[in-house]
Amino acid sequence: MPMSATSYINGLGRYVPPRAVSNADLEKLVDTSDEWITARTGIKVRHIAEKGQPSSDLAYEASKRALEHAGIEPGELTHVLVATCTPDSYCPNTASMLAHRLGVGTPMAMDINAACTGFLYSLEIARSLLCTYPDAKVLVTASEVLSSRTNWADRSTCVLFGDGAGAAVLTNKPTGELPFSVGPMQLRSDGQYADLLTIKGGGSATPYTLGETVREDFFITMEGREVFKQAVRNMASLCKELLEKAGMDINDVDLLVPHQANLRIIEALGNRLKIDRNKVFSNVQKYGNTSAASIPIALTEGIEQGILAKGDSVLVTSFGAGLTWGAGLLQA
Ligand SMILES: CC(C)(COP(=O)(O)OP(=O)(O)OC[C@H]1O[C@@H](n2cnc3c(N)ncnc32)[C@H](O)[C@@H]1OP(=O)(O)O)[C@@H](O)C(=O)NCCC(=O)NCCS
Repeated sequence: MPMSATSYINGLGRYVPPRAVSNADLEKLVDTSDEWITARTGIKVRHIAEKGQPSSDLAYEASKRALEHAGIEPGELTHVLVATCTPDSYCPNTASMLAHRLGVGTPMAMDINAACTGFLYSLEIARSLLCTYPDAKVLVTASEVLSSRTNWADRSTCVLFGDGAGAAVLTNKPTGELPFSVGPMQLRSDGQYADLLTIKGGGSATPYTLGETVREDFFITMEGREVFKQAVRNMASLCKELLEKAGMDINDVDLLVPHQANLRIIEALGNRLKIDRNKVFSNVQKYGNTSAASIPIALTEGIEQGILAKGDSVLVTSFGAGLTWGAGLLQA
C-alpha cells in the first residue's frame, strides 16, 4: 500500500553557471547553424560550467537558495539526495561533498542516477524517507555538468545539452511562501532500450586501462530520432495514466512542467495530452537540456516569473536514459 503521509516541497532554488554559449558560438565549433538548432530543438543558449567545476559546486549554489526559500538551516537537514548522471567522481558520491560544503553535519547522503528522470525519482525516495522518519528534513538536489561528457565534435549531441542545478527542501509540514504538496507519482524504466542514450566509457562494462586514450563512448552517444519517439510516447501515456488514477482530467491541470529536452518534444507531448498551449511551461530555449536539473530549474523559474502560483495543480513529467521516465502531480 502506498504511504498516506503528505510531503511538501517548502523551498526551491536554481543555479546555472554564468558562461552562456549561443548557437552562434557552436557554429564556430561544428558544422551547424542557429537556424538548424532553433528549428529542430528550440534551443538558443545553454550555460556551461568552467572546466573542472564539479556538479557539487552547482548543487551547492542551488541548495543554498532552496534552503533560504524554505527558511531551513543546513544543520537541520537529516538527508541529502543528489540526482546526477555527471557526479563529481565515480566514488565517493556527490551528495557527501555537497552535505559537507553546506555544513549539514553527518546526514545520510546518497546519489541517485536516473538520468533526466533523476529529480522525480529523488522526490519519490524523499517522500518514502519522510514516511519512515516523519520529522526528517530532506534536501533533494539535481545537478549536472553534462558538458564534461559532451563530445564537442559531435554536432548531433553537443548542441542539445547544458549545465545547471535545481534543489528542493522537503518536510512533512507545509512552511514558507509557496509549499507544494507532492501528490501521486508514477516512475518507470525499461533497460531494453539502454543503448539509445548512453555515457558508457569508463564504466565497469567498458573499462579503460591506464594510459589508454578515451574513446568516443566516454561521451554522450544517442540515437536522437528513436529517443524523440520514445520520449513523447512514454511521457504522454504515463501522464494520462497518472491523471486517470488520480481521478483528474487534463483540464484540471493548471501547468504542465515537462522535462526541458527539446521544444518539439514538449509541443508533441502537449498535443498528445490535449492541453492548452498556454499551460505548458518551457525554458529550454535558455538552458538546453540540463538533464535531472531541468524540472527543478523550471519550477523555480515558474515561481519567479509568477507563472506558477498558489492553488495551482502542476503536472510534472520527465524522460531520460535508462530508459527512465516519470510523471507526478504537485499542488501549490
Ligand atoms: C537530435 C535531434 C534534434 C535531431 O533531429 P532529427 O530531425 O531527428 O535529425 P536527424 O538525426 O534525422 O538528422 C537530420 C540531418 O541533420 C544533421 N544534423 C544533426 N545534427 C545537426 C546539427 N547540429 N546541425 C546541422 N545538422 C545536423 C544530420 O547529420 C542529418 O543529416 P543527413 O540527413 O545528411 O544525414 C532530434 O532527433 C531530437 O531532438 N531527438 C531527441 C533528443 C533528446 O532530446 N535527447 C535527450 C532526451 S532526455
